[in-house]
Amino acid sequence: MTDLGFDAPTVIRTKRDGGRLADAAIEWVVDAYTHGRVAEEQMSALLMAIFLRGMDRGETASWTAAMLASGDRLDFSDLGTPTVDKHSTGGVGDKITLPLVAVVAACGAAVPQASGRGLGHTGGTLDKLESIAGFSAMLSNERVRDQLRDVGAAIFAAGELAPADAKLYALRDVTATVESLPLIASSVMSKKLAEGAGALVLDVKVGSGALLSSPQRCRELAHTMVELGAAHGVPTHALLTDMNGPLGATVGNALEVAESLEVLAGGGPPDVVALTLRLASEMLELAGVDARDPADTLCDGTAMDRFRRLIAAQGGDLSVPLPIGAHSETVTAARGGTMGDIDAMAVGLAAWRLGAGRSRPGEGVQAGAGIRIHRRPGEPVSAGAPLFTLFTDTPERFGAALAELDGGYRVGDTPPASRPLIIDRIVT
Ligand code: URA
Repeated sequence: MTDLGFDAPTVIRTKRDGGRLADAAIEWVVDAYTHGRVAEEQMSALLMAIFLRGMDRGETASWTAAMLASGDRLDFSDLGTPTVDKHSTGGVGDKITLPLVAVVAACGAAVPQASGRGLGHTGGTLDKLESIAGFSAMLSNERVRDQLRDVGAAIFAAGELAPADAKLYALRDVTATVESLPLIASSVMSKKLAEGAGALVLDVKVGSGALLSSPQRCRELAHTMVELGAAHGVPTHALLTDMNGPLGATVGNALEVAESLEVLAGGGPPDVVALTLRLASEMLELAGVDARDPADTLCDGTAMDRFRRLIAAQGGDLSVPLPIGAHSETVTAARGGTMGDIDAMAVGLAAWRLGAGRSRPGEGVQAGAGIRIHRRPGEPVSAGAPLFTLFTDTPERFGAALAELDGGYRVGDTPPASRPLIIDRIVT
């Protein structure tokens, strides 16, 4: 694409001053950034302007289309098996993709799952899976197709799909521009539309640990993405789900893989199991597959078998022990009583401080960093009992992590009010 007629400072100024970006300007700036003709500092400024000024639905649709057009779009319509995927807008302890992909594959639908890395205080599926020795998320489009046929699922870095998202995602992560409705919607939908799934289920997180903390904005995000899916011919449903507290009892890459294996073995925390099965049912319904009850696949080992085959197909070796941080600190209860609410944001930030996430582009994450939660909301606590264990390879991080966690939980005399896990379902 020629740069004739466009320049980055003008595009940035238009948005900075609250103006609307024309479709052609959006197409140009996304393409020019993807190909290195718009500099990182220019895109950083534009992202901040979008973060502060927003984009309307039309601009968001154009931005998404430009990101989608930046790379390949896969097509599995000749696979002979219905394909379906899910994507979460990002949460704390949100390891659902790991058991879910295996459950859905065991039920007979194929899952092409283009995943991301950690973003801000939220964890990323690829960072989690890369804590398994040998696991590779770098699959060619041909490998994805072969794996869908042989195993029924593939979890991979988007790579040649929506490369604009790969660059923008990494830039947003380190420029404090993650929590923007149009940038989240376009990021999710560009790679999900590119990956070629025949249908899509979105898990839109609502609550203190979600990327957008106002329930109204989360609902708007869900509607925006469902409409984008429909506009591109991909039937899309969204569930609004609770993210005020962390999901499950672990936060951090390898810790979450271990918890996912517990779920696949028929155990694991009830909220992780419940959300996995609810999303599986939604995906299978949308894919038109109803041969099996998803819950059976966790009891009879067929989901575990799929997961093991998926990991092995991508070079992973589950016989190698998962890493765990070399240093640990345990937070104990100052008094007895009942565990109250645990704030997802506090725990997510603490895990990030321990090294589970990154603060500079391309930085490595610590596979063994994270937090084990010993008492979940509503559970009895005795004075001096362990509440959280923090893990890291770099003990100088404990101070900042403990400061994030402080005030993020409470032991009281009464159990916290219960909240529904599934808040709403949005289908049009
Ligand atoms: N998931 C994504 O892929 N992108 C976002 O911006 C947030 C969650």
